[in-house]
Amino acid sequence: MSTRRNFLKQTGAVLGYGSLFQAGIPLFAQNTPANPSFSPSTYMGAASLAARAARTRLPYGCAVVPEMLNVEMDYTRTIIEQCSILVAENSMKWAAIHPQPNTFNFAGADKLLAFAGEHKMQLRGHNLCWHQALPSWFTKTMNRGNAKAMLVQHIQTVAGRYAGKLHSWDVVNEAIHVQDGRPDGLRKSPWLELIGEEYIDIAFHTARQADPHALLTYNDYGIEYDVPHDDQKRAAVLSLLRRMRKRKTPIDAVGVQSHLRAGTQDTIGDGLEHFLQEVRKLDLQVFITEMDVDDSHLTGDADQREAAVAAVYKQYFDLMLRDSQVTAALTWGITNRYTWLNHEHPRKNGDYQVPLPFDSNYQPAKAFFALGEAFGRRKVQSAAPVLTAKVNDAQAI
Ligand code: G3I
Repeated sequence: MSTRRNFLKQTGAVLGYGSLFQAGIPLFAQNTPANPSFSPSTYMGAASLAARAARTRLPYGCAVVPEMLNVEMDYTRTIIEQCSILVAENSMKWAAIHPQPNTFNFAGADKLLAFAGEHKMQLRGHNLCWHQALPSWFTKTMNRGNAKAMLVQHIQTVAGRYAGKLHSWDVVNEAIHVQDGRPDGLRKSPWLELIGEEYIDIAFHTARQADPHALLTYNDYGIEYDVPHDDQKRAAVLSLLRRMRKRKTPIDAVGVQSHLRAGTQDTIGDGLEHFLQEVRKLDLQVFITEMDVDDSHLTGDADQREAAVAAVYKQYFDLMLRDSQVTAALTWGITNRYTWLNHEHPRKNGDYQVPLPFDSNYQPAKAFFALGEAFGRRKVQSAAPVLTAKVNDAQAI
């Protein structure tokens, strides 16, 4: 097992001290971050992922479980060292934050906000409207007569509580599901059944009124690969975004979840590049919101699987970071010890999956180096990204 000191050698050896300097990455802590409000921490002196990403004003971070912060100390330290932006994996979803019709539980979200503030990190909100992670009372309480009011009340309460304190919100999550067969590709979610397509506009307008400063995001998965399903889904997402723009729905960004996979023949390229071009035409930023790489299709030992996963990180981030409208990057967790993939897509032999930048012992995995090098290769953006929402579109519903 590599020690932390070995890591420093590894970092130097793998990335080459020269290449770090060439990439403009201060090898050792120098408080000259692109984003003055964030002083990138270091990992035993070597530049952290956040420090490398900060060179082009790109916040890097991960999904976290607030209950583990300041409790599991390796987890906590790795997040502090490596991240400049966080998102709650589950604590801000309906099931966690709205456990009863008239009860809200902000404990996890408040703890995360305090932690982010203490460590000068930004915080994403995830999410205000989704077909999953709905509380047990939802089905028996919601109906066509009250659904709109309940959605508005939820967003006013939750987004209002954190107004002015968040980088962005995933306002609507995963509203497109082409397999449901609708011409518009919309998912037959409870929200669509109860309110109709206008639930999306209601959610975004309410979020803008509740928090005029957060960047309002439409977040989805399955839009990354050059495969028929993703082609169809990208077309449906673009069609939705164009309708939203036409209706002057307040939206600032698209979240590309980036749940990728290693060990398949599927490729990423023209389809995603075209999607980014079309999103740019809509004047929307792009966030990489939930990156990880599923290795359950792979055989081989962890080292071999890490190499395949790292190759996906390299190829994907080199493609995505060529685009200046990509203005945030988060992985869906930071360590292979805690990833949803070990539950949802477990490896048949029970081994940990290796989808994230740190291994199950909090040592840098191959994906760490691939990600850090991709951040280092990114050309410095001419203009700083727009970090606050254009609030002039906060109109009444
Ligand atoms: O908190 C309860 C606990 O009280 C209970 O004992 C336990 C066993 O039933 O369940 C716990 O809730 C689980 C929750 O994670 C917190 O651990 C839910 O069952 C489980 O379904 C939930 O899974 C999350 C999933 O979203 C659904 O909300 C995953 O951790 C999370 O990684 C995953 O993340 C999603 C993004 O939000 C959206 N994009 C896709 C991504 C992966 O599915």
